[in-house]
Amino acid sequence: MKLNGKTILITGGTSGIGMEFANQLSAAGNTVLVTGRGAERIRKVRQTLQNVHVFQSDASEPSEIASLQREVLSKFPALSVIINNAGIMRNLDLNKIEGGADVAREIAIDLSGPILMTQQFLDHLLQQNESLIVNVSSGFALVPFSMSPIYSAAKAGLHAYTRCLRMQMKGTSVKVIELIPPGTETPMFRGEFAKEFKGQKAMDAKVLVKKAIAGIEANQDEIRPGLARVLGVMSRLAPDFMMAQITKMSTPKP
Ligand SMILES: NC(=O)c1ccc[n+]([C@@H]2O[C@H](COP(=O)([O-])OP(=O)(O)OC[C@H]3O[C@@H](n4cnc5c(N)ncnc54)[C@H](OP(=O)(O)O)[C@@H]3O)[C@@H](O)[C@H]2O)c1
Repeated sequence: MKLNGKTILITGGTSGIGMEFANQLSAAGNTVLVTGRGAERIRKVRQTLQNVHVFQSDASEPSEIASLQREVLSKFPALSVIINNAGIMRNLDLNKIEGGADVAREIAIDLSGPILMTQQFLDHLLQQNESLIVNVSSGFALVPFSMSPIYSAAKAGLHAYTRCLRMQMKGTSVKVIELIPPGTETPMFRGEFAKEFKGQKAMDAKVLVKKAIAGIEANQDEIRPGLARVLGVMSRLAPDFMMAQITKMSTPKP
């Protein structure tokens, strides 16, 4: 699909990869809508990306997803692209875990959220001549990262769901693409993992999004920039070795 003149909804578009998508897609002549939760991030996007429409909405809460759908479709009936990008990644020691609420929350944001968003908008997308769902998973969907067990499990689940969705959408107007980013320079990458990823180079978000847009326009089913391509190959050739290597590389540095 050519990404020009389209109406595009991006979840988690107030920071990092989502905000960069909003920036590049808006500059390419699309009508861009983004969601996010934090008021300060929303204010910043409104200030810096003035053509972008911002909705305060939690992409993991069923009631908020339903009201987002009503509001978006009444104001932007030409919506034809959804990028399920919102995500969180926690550094979790399973030996010290207390209660289950945080775990359920991480699964809700990284896995149930994109599934519920898809369900909520699917009828509408099926009625368009040409439409697109992009699910943003992670290289850790292919090779799990032991310090982020819930995230890795949720993203592996999203990878499986996206493959099923693609198969079921065959012969319809809905194209399904998975973006599998490698480590990318965003607040998520440096946040909880400042010690683990210290000194590690990540892909520039601008470069990642350029590659993602090129992959979408080339109709690729899965877009695996940089190290994500290596992880894909190694997950088949030597999965245990690769998982151990990632853990070793990410042992906290002083
Ligand atoms: N950066 C990497 O190295 C990397 C690698 C592989 C995959 N990814 C994936 O790429 C996506 C974007 O990550 P990023 O690095 O750009 O992270 P980021 O800079 O932390 O941005 C995440 C965005 O998602 C929003 N968000 C989080 N939970 C949300 C929710 N429940 N509802 C609505 N918005 C929500 C955040 O805003 P609020 O918190 O204010 O809501 C923010 O706008 C994620 O799915 C992530 O897993 C990232």
